[in-house]
Amino acid sequence: MTDHPASDALVFFGITGDLAYKKIFPALQALVQRERLNVPVIGVARSQLSDADLIERARASITEHDTLDPAAFQKLSSLLGHVWGDYSDAATFTRLRERLGNAKRPLFYLAVPPSLFPTVVQHLADSGCTAGARIVIEKPFGRDLQSARSLNTLLRTVFPEDSIFRIDHYLGKEAVQNLMYFRFANTFLEPLWNRHYVDSVQITMAESMGVAGRGAFYDETGVIRDVIQNHLLQIISYLAMEAPSSTWPEAIRDEQAKVLRTIRPLSPEHLVLGQFRSYRQEPGVAPDSRVPTFAALQLAIDSWRWEGVPFFIRAGKCLAESRTDVMVELKPAPPVVFQQAAPRGANYVRFRLSPDVAINIGAYTKVPGEGMAGQPVELSVASGTRQGVGTRLGPYERLLGDAMTGDATLFARQDVVEAAWAIVDPVIKDPAALLEYDCGGWGPADADQLVASFGGWAGR
Ligand code: BG6
Repeated sequence: MTDHPASDALVFFGITGDLAYKKIFPALQALVQRERLNVPVIGVARSQLSDADLIERARASITEHDTLDPAAFQKLSSLLGHVWGDYSDAATFTRLRERLGNAKRPLFYLAVPPSLFPTVVQHLADSGCTAGARIVIEKPFGRDLQSARSLNTLLRTVFPEDSIFRIDHYLGKEAVQNLMYFRFANTFLEPLWNRHYVDSVQITMAESMGVAGRGAFYDETGVIRDVIQNHLLQIISYLAMEAPSSTWPEAIRDEQAKVLRTIRPLSPEHLVLGQFRSYRQEPGVAPDSRVPTFAALQLAIDSWRWEGVPFFIRAGKCLAESRTDVMVELKPAPPVVFQQAAPRGANYVRFRLSPDVAINIGAYTKVPGEGMAGQPVELSVASGTRQGVGTRLGPYERLLGDAMTGDATLFARQDVVEAAWAIVDPVIKDPAALLEYDCGGWGPADADQLVASFGGWAGR
């Protein structure tokens, strides 16, 4: 934690959008419930809603995505205000400055299309809104390495680094933080966590839904920018980094940056891209779109610890199920003692991040009886059905609260963002062929070829 003063207003750009509806209103109610939000919340958007309609939208959002708490919601409604107007119109920002009144340390949250970031930031600065302020930028931060650098340069002309919060909601998830915690709070993993014992690592982020209602955003983004450059590379950084010297934010982010820099830039022959068949008929999607909704890829980490261990990622929309798994597969035991040795993939550590949260260790035990045959078993070391097991602290609630108090530990630092872009940059500029796939399956068959010599994708 830092000793910076807390923000005294929260301004949310894009209050009528999808992110606010699905995640932010429920997070705001949760912050009120835990007495962590007691400052004005000002929504900004181009669409003009009446006060009553905005409050109704917040109510509908919370009812649909969480449980409405009448007392907390009433309090939230009393904090809620708005400024409507075009983002390219200076008058919108003059009204915002007036609406901010005496607030001296507002937090601006930009959940608007990335192409609007420069306009909004410039107007915020010109209207005198930015002194003492903090800014939260939704992912993806930039569209590639070059634009991420330009965006950062622009932000740094207005905000100091410790006032910039590059949000990636995966870092706010309990289960993701537990990757790092579990690794470094226990001694038994460390001797195994290297190229001598790990055969391969697989990360699957499968989503059964398509791009429902987000076609226009998605068609500008695609799977690599949407979840791989950020969520899944952040996961790899926690999984593969060296032990930080402490929980000091920069100690953790230094190690993340270091390990990401040792990942080789991705080449098209280690990548399979797919697009689900009905994607081009989605509202907001170009009829000839070449944007991938699926990717499977193999990364190599050039480090003493990980040399030669493939890290596979598979992510996509419209797949057979919704599940996010991190599977660390250990090398098989040599088949010298028992005739029937455990097969490849029998020993593993699996972190399930969603829909349930669990850590499982795969092992082989003897089948009861006279022979020496084995059977697979799983040791379950933690489980739960919610992402915020125990605390019920959702990722946006956690991250909004942290940004308002100036704690950047769970936000991406610029060098981490740039290292992640450097990995995917070559295939953004020169992508692999795009293969069509049917909804309800596991993406193009070529994705299976990538992992064929490592026993296939775990859990299919
Ligand atoms: C978002 C992506 O960042 O993460 C979405 O834009 C994706 O496309 C979502 O569906 C997944 O988040 P979660 O928390 O549901 O795993």
